[in-house]
Parts: sequence; C-alpha cells; structure tokens
Amino acid sequence: MSIEQLESIAQAMVAPGKGIIAIDESNSTIKKRFDALGVDCTEENRRAYREMLLTTPGLGEHISGAILYDETIRQSTRAGVPFTKVMLDAGILPGIKVDKGPQPLAGFPGEVVTEGLDGLRERLNEYARLGAKFAKWRAVINIGEDAPSGTCIEANCHALARYAALCQEAGIVPMVEPEILMDGDHDLEACYDVTEVTLRSLFGSLYEQNVMLEGTILKASMVISGKTCVDQASTDEVAEATVRCLKAAVPALLPGIVFLSGGQSDEQATAHLNAMNQMGPHPWPLSFSYGRAMQQAALKLWAKDMQANFAAAQKTVAQRAKENGLAALGQWKKAA
Ligand code: 13P
Repeated sequence: MSIEQLESIAQAMVAPGKGIIAIDESNSTIKKRFDALGVDCTEENRRAYREMLLTTPGLGEHISGAILYDETIRQSTRAGVPFTKVMLDAGILPGIKVDKGPQPLAGFPGEVVTEGLDGLRERLNEYARLGAKFAKWRAVINIGEDAPSGTCIEANCHALARYAALCQEAGIVPMVEPEILMDGDHDLEACYDVTEVTLRSLFGSLYEQNVMLEGTILKASMVISGKTCVDQASTDEVAEATVRCLKAAVPALLPGIVFLSGGQSDEQATAHLNAMNQMGPHPWPLSFSYGRAMQQAALKLWAKDMQANFAAAQKTVAQRAKENGLAALGQWKKAA
C-alpha cells in the first residue's frame, strides 16, 4: 500500500466532527467490567455486547472507526453478518488492538513495558486480510516517586516505533498510544513534564525506525492532575496544558491526534476535548478515541437487562458519539 493510501485512512480517522470508539478490551479487561455489573463473561455475552455497540443506528455519523480485539474482529452479528461488514456498511473503519499488554520491566520494579512484537508481522498480515485498516498499541507509563525511568520510556517508545513500522509495511495505519496513567497524587506540571519527555522520545523513535508520520495517528493522554492530587486543575487548565505540551513535542506533519479517556468521567472527557478545540485552530485535528467515556453508560443499561434495554443502551452510545463529535469541533454545550 502506498503512503497516499495510508494517509487517506489516517485522515478519514480524524475527519471533522468524527472520532473513534475503543471497544478493544482484552477478555480479562472486559471480564472485570462485566463482573462489576454481574454479567457472565462468556464468548456469547462478549459478542452480544459488541453487537449492541456496533449496530447502534447512525453510529457512523460521528464515529470514523472502532478498535476491536482479536476475538471481536472474527465475530458476527446474531444474524450472521461479520462485524467488519456491519462496520464498513456504516462507514466505520475496522481497527485492531495488536499489543499483548504490559509486562513488568525487568530491573525496574513497578514499571512496565508493552510486549507483542514477536510474530507481529504475521498477525498484522492476517488482520489486514480480515479487514483491519488501522491498529493500536498501548504503552503504559506510570508517574511515581522515582518513575518513570528513562529506560522505561525508551523501551516503550522503541517498541511503539517497531510496531508502527510493521503496521505500515502491512498497509495498516498505526495508532501509537503512550498512555501516561492518571493514577497518583502528582500535579498537572508533573504530568506535563512526563508527557513531554515521552512524546519527544516517541517521535525520536518513530524517526529512527523510518515510520512515515503522514500515515500515523497519535493516541495521547491529556495533561491532567493525578486522580488523588489535592489540587485538581480546571477544564481550561487541562486543555491549555495539553495543547501546549502537544505543540512542544508533536510534529505538525502528523494527520491527527485522538485522546483516550483514561478514567475521566464522560462529561470531563467531552468538556476537555471541547475546550481544546475552542482554543484552536491547532496544527492537527484533535478528536477522541474513548473506551470507557463512550461505553460506560451503555454497558450499565445493557447489563441490567440485555434484551429490554438493548435500544436504550444504543441510544446512549449514539448520544456519547454525538457529544464527543461536537467536542471535536469545539461546538459542544454542557446540558443545562
Ligand atoms: P479509555 O478511553 O477507557 O482510557 O480507553 C481507551 C483505550 O483504548 C485505552 O487503550
């Protein structure tokens, strides 16, 4: 695939007023979410839940792509239509999570490095045949007393860049996600510093691995106060710090940046994105690739009664998509 084709996929992912829904929870992560609501984590329930999400009427109006998990990209609706076909018919690009999750970083207690490079070329080729147009790899960076170490940042960024190069070879747009966790009592400045160092390292690694930025999407965490920090930054402070940090570290050539929600409430995630876009224009479109902030309301409803609440759950997905789509344009208004 040519760079022009990768570029046009990347641009479609961040088309004006559109963003991404992340439904790529591994079986162990979705089990935690199901357990909390008393839903059995069977393959059929996982399939039925993802069918509810992906068949939401009008989803493609504000959603450009959905990130799937290995099991999900192979599944179909109850009526037998492959999820990838449902998505393409709705104008939603299929994406796939390809990392194998974070593992302890040897020699650095408390730090992790994301694994999954072994055999990745073959897996990417298979995902391309199954219809994947973009992929996701998430690195996890923890802020702590002596963390993150430079080694942890470098190891994770090296893996992200190796992954991104393999994606482009396979004709798949890499979404590179270095997530700085919100856990901890650190303040906004600490998050800014770690985010800036990480992004600089990431773009250095992408350059070294000959990754074409025109066909790459950054999935970033916002610059935000730690969850247990006593002094919580305001919406405008988060938006201003995030945009400043991105401008300091992300090349303007990149086609777009999408954010993860990372444990923010639905409203916070939307308000922060909206505030950033009201401060624009910026060098890149800023949009969303939310997991929890797109799904949590719908999952709660669906879990209560899968049949009776099916349509109501879909309505909340459509509503979250619409609100985040407006925030991607800086046109969202908080409900009175
Ligand atoms: P959250 O929006 O729930 O953080 O999930 C996004 C995601 O895909 C994390 O990798």
